[in-house]
Formats: sequence, structure tokens, C-alpha cells
Amino acid sequence: MVVAGWVQNRRDHGGLIFVDLRDRYGIVQLVFDHQKNASFFAAAEKLRSEYVLAVKGEVKMRSTETVNPNLATGEIEIHVQDMEVLNYSQTPPIYIEDGIDTDENVRLRYRYLDLRRFEMQAALRLRHSVLMSARKYLDERGFWEIETPMLTRSTPEGARDYLVPSRTVPGSFFALPQSPQLFKQLLMVSGVDKYFQVARCFRDEDLRADRQPEFTQLDLELSFCAAADIRSEVEGLVCHIFKEALGRELPAPFKVLPYKEALERFGSDKPDTRFAMEIVDITGTAGESQFKVFKNVIGKGGVVKGLNAKGCAGYSRKEIDDLTRQVQAWGTAGLAWMALTEDGFKTPLAKFFTDEQLAAIKKKMGGEPGDLLLFVADQWEPALKVLGQLRVYLAQRLELIPKDRGLDHFLWVIDFPLVAYDAQEKRYTANHHPFTAPLEDDLALLEHDPLKVRSQAYDLVYNGVEVAGGSMRIYEKELQRKVFKLLNLQEQELQEKFGFFLQAFEYGVPPHGGIAFGLDRLLMLMAGKNSIRDVIPFPKTAAGTCLLSGAPAPVYSEQLKELHILMDVRDDKEESGSRGS
Ligand code: AMO
Ligand code: AMP
Repeated sequence: MVVAGWVQNRRDHGGLIFVDLRDRYGIVQLVFDHQKNASFFAAAEKLRSEYVLAVKGEVKMRSTETVNPNLATGEIEIHVQDMEVLNYSQTPPIYIEDGIDTDENVRLRYRYLDLRRFEMQAALRLRHSVLMSARKYLDERGFWEIETPMLTRSTPEGARDYLVPSRTVPGSFFALPQSPQLFKQLLMVSGVDKYFQVARCFRDEDLRADRQPEFTQLDLELSFCAAADIRSEVEGLVCHIFKEALGRELPAPFKVLPYKEALERFGSDKPDTRFAMEIVDITGTAGESQFKVFKNVIGKGGVVKGLNAKGCAGYSRKEIDDLTRQVQAWGTAGLAWMALTEDGFKTPLAKFFTDEQLAAIKKKMGGEPGDLLLFVADQWEPALKVLGQLRVYLAQRLELIPKDRGLDHFLWVIDFPLVAYDAQEKRYTANHHPFTAPLEDDLALLEHDPLKVRSQAYDLVYNGVEVAGGSMRIYEKELQRKVFKLLNLQEQELQEKFGFFLQAFEYGVPPHGGIAFGLDRLLMLMAGKNSIRDVIPFPKTAAGTCLLSGAPAPVYSEQLKELHILMDVRDDKEESGSRGS
């Protein structure tokens, strides 16, 4: 038997030395016996962590008392007959073992060592299996894998662009694509019919645990089909991936929730349905009460909505004050509460409600002794969004979300509003992007009541995270023009930004639509991790830097000269500071 790998550790037991040798497949125990082979024994004494070895030896069963049940190879060991040290290593700055509690910056700086750990290797393997199974499935379904340019023009996903200066066209810049959106639509115009790509996307935006400046989409586009066809194609794909990569069967078809219902019930357009605690409307009863806070909000067209925090009636005043501060930080005025005890309601609001009103609220909210009912009065959307956040916050605090990773809740959210109103800029903005088709039933509202127009956009939500988003596209010139007008996009701006794309509309565009998975997010959830950095081989920090390579970094002045660029770097903060003084 010949094996090669890295020294995980060495244990000296007098005339015997045990070495755990690690490679991608696992760990195996090597035994060096002084009596049998004195020369290798001396060499083995010098072995240190992460030395690279090749050994030849005899595989033997371990005696029953020395079997290691925690190791796949725990029943055997290799008695070394020949050994070669292929390379030496300095003492590594991180432990090469699972579950280490090391500063993530150190892990990122020495990522090649971090990736030696089995949990990271498992993430790499999962990434590979998911991509392979997706490629195989899509190939069998007639999709073509096609690459689109990285050096291109701005795409309409709404983040800041990463720019690349052109040497050959002085003063001009490429933008790295925020997604392959325009090119994949052009491929439909080219007659490709079914496209996919594992596409790297670049967005210069504020980073969070589930956002990277450079991330991967599994991107799809199809012609001559309806939204429901695309959704069922995607469900087939997701079920296949789960089966191949994790051996898990997903319940299909996935639930479909209209945006309005998702907000009404869960206060979110990406509801986590692994636990219940749905939002309840008590506007009717609240409006009949004498509680001024509620009546004022309702008088201004608002609503009163609530959550039943089961078993929380015993919360102290301080705990309730903390919850109140929390919802205020999310942007609403306050939190009203009613505790249900064996002796009835305990609440500062009791005097404003009749017994019948209290009974009606209790019934509507499924209240039982021991429950704490929490209410927010506000306009429809902010009230629901705050309660949606409170719902998830309480579920975490009360540990309502099952730890069992086998619990996979997929659902579609559809019928998003086509546009939102940007009060600051005083104009409508596209919720998805400006090429998203409105729902046909709502076309008549486009000019007079645009906020009511629903779009043919859909998001795929997995355990409360948006893992994919897409839409049917506008393919008729007239409708596209109307939407651009609604979004107040001027002809000149359109021509500048998308002229090449709009021209294609003159040449026979097929009905088409598509979707893109945030592959890293999907993998993060499949791997049971909390950050997409844990499933990306070489991720960037929250500040958008690569600690391993040191990018971004200054360049030589000759390089800038070639690019026709003169440097005049200012620190924005210093600038505004000095202006103020
Ligand atoms: P969208 O902008 O919704 O749609 O992106 C699709 C999916 O990509 C993931 N995602 C991200 N993942 C990591 N880091 C980021 N910064 C990041 N931004 C987005 C999300 C999201 O659901 N062209 C359209 C798709 C289409 O219409 O076909 C698009 O890019 O999981
Ligand atoms: P106030 O009249 O502002 O002192 O508020 C009385 C109670 O109502 C306090 O417990 C507040 O937290 C609560 N409250 C105030 N505004 C709201 C609101 N918009 N929704 C729910 N409760 C509120």
C-alpha cells in the first residue's frame, strides 16, 4: 500500500511512533516500529505537522482496543516499510482541524491552509457536485452553456460598477458585468432558445454575510415559454441537485406565494416557513377600541397587526422595553403588548378595550394563557415589514427554527410590484430591472396607478433566503417604451446605456424569460453555513479586499500612463472634513 499526504500529528510512544497522515480523502494512521525499522524510526521522530510524506507499508487490522470509531479508517493502520519526506513545512499559523475558532482574517490570509481542513474540503466538494449535477441536468434538458463577456458595458442590476480602463480607447472604460442579463437576452434574440452559464458577477455594493463583490450565478434563460414553465424547469433542476449532491428528496411542486400574501402572513418577501408564527390583522377591533395610538394610525389609513409570541407572557418589563427598542430601530414608532395569564389579560392597554374586544383579539390570534401578544400600528408595508423582522428575531430567540438541516423549505414568491416610488429622487424605479414584463391583467393600470401593477417576476426562497430571482421579459417595443417612460428614462440615457440592446428589438425578439441563482447562497444553505465566504474558495473581506493576494493594490505609474490615466487620489472623508472646518 502506498499513500501520500500531510502529517496531521505525530505521537511518540517509546519504541512506537504514530503519525496521522491526511489527504483529501481522510486520515490514516501510520505506525513506525523501532524494532522493525530503526532507520525510518529516526526519520519519523523528526516529522512535524504539515510535512508532506509518501509511505509504503502493510495495511493491518488494529487490535480491538485501539480501534478509533471516529475515523473512517479507524479499524486499520499502515505499518511503514518505506518512507520519503517530499517536503517540509513551517509551523502553520492556524490549526488544520474542523471547528477552529480562529480570526477569519488569518484564515483568509492563509486560505490554502484553511482549505486543507476537512470542512472546507467538504464545501469545495459540494460546490463541485452541485455544479456538475446542474450541468448534467441542463445539458440533458437541451440547454447550451454559453459564456458572455466580462469586459462589457454597465448592466442594469442597480449596484455600482467595477470599471476597467481601456488602453486602446483612451478615456473609456469597460464595466465588469453585474450579471449576464443583457447578453443572455440577446442570445434569445439569436435563437439559442435554452441557455445557461455559471457566471461570475461583479457588484460594488455594501457587503454582508450573504453578499460578495464577486459572486457566482447559475444563470438561465429560455424562449417560447411562460413563467410557470420556467418555475417548473427550475424546480426539476433544484430537486435533481439536492438528490445528486446531498441525497435529499425535496417535496415538489414548491409552494407559490403572491408577494402580497407573503407580506401579509410573514412580513417578508422571503419568508422563512420552517416555523409558523404568522402575522394577524386586528385593524377592525383596534379601530373600535379607545386606544389613541391605534385609532390615530388607522385614521391615517394605517393598520394594526400582531404576532403571538407563544409562552412569553412572563417577559419582564425590561425584556419588553428591549423588544420595543428593537422594533423602533427597525423604523416603527412603538410596540404594544398584551400578556395572557390564567387570570386574563395583563396589559397597560386593558382600559382602552372592552371585554368583548379583548376576547375577539385573543380568538383571532389563537391566544392561550402564557402567550404574549405584540402589536405594531403603522402603514401597511412598514407595519408588516417590522413584524416580519420581529417574527424572525423571536423565532431565533425562542429557538423555533428546527436545527435539523434536512428540513428544506423552498417556495416561490411571485407577483411582485413592478415599480416602487423613490421619494428622494421623486420617480418610479424598477423593482427587478427595466426589462421585466408587467402582468398582463395589470397592463391597464400602467399609466394611472403604476404602484398597483404587478410584474412577472419571481424569486425562489430557501429557508428564508432569496436564492434565485428572475422574470419574464418585455419583448414588444411599444410596451418597453411605456415602461421606460414610467421609469422616467430619457431617450438619450437609454441610447447611451442600452442602445445596442434596444436595437435588437427591431429584429424579431421571441417571448422569453429567465432566472439566476445566487450559487454561493444556495451552497451556503446546503452546507449549513452562516456566511457565503465559507463556500467560496477565495472570498473577499467585508471591506472588499483579498487578504491572500493583497488586492486591490497600487500599480506602477508606467501602467497608468499606458492607460492614459493621471492619478489624483482623494480621501472623501478627509475632503468633507476639511470643507467643514
Ligand atoms: P438578481 O440581482 O436578483 O437578478 O441576482 C440573482 C441572485 O444572485 C444572488 N446575489 C448575490 N449573491 C452574492 N453576492 C451578491 N452581491 C449578490 N447579489 C445577488 C441572489 C439573487 O437572488 N439578471 C438577474 C436575474 C434574471 O432576471 O434572470 C439578476 O441578476 O441570490
Ligand atoms: P405612547 O402613547 O407613545 O406613550 O405609547 C403608548 C404605548 O403604545 C407604548 O407602549 C408604545 O410602545 C405603544 N406604541 C406607540 N406607538 C405604537 C405603534 N405605532 N404601534 C404599536 N404600539 C405603539
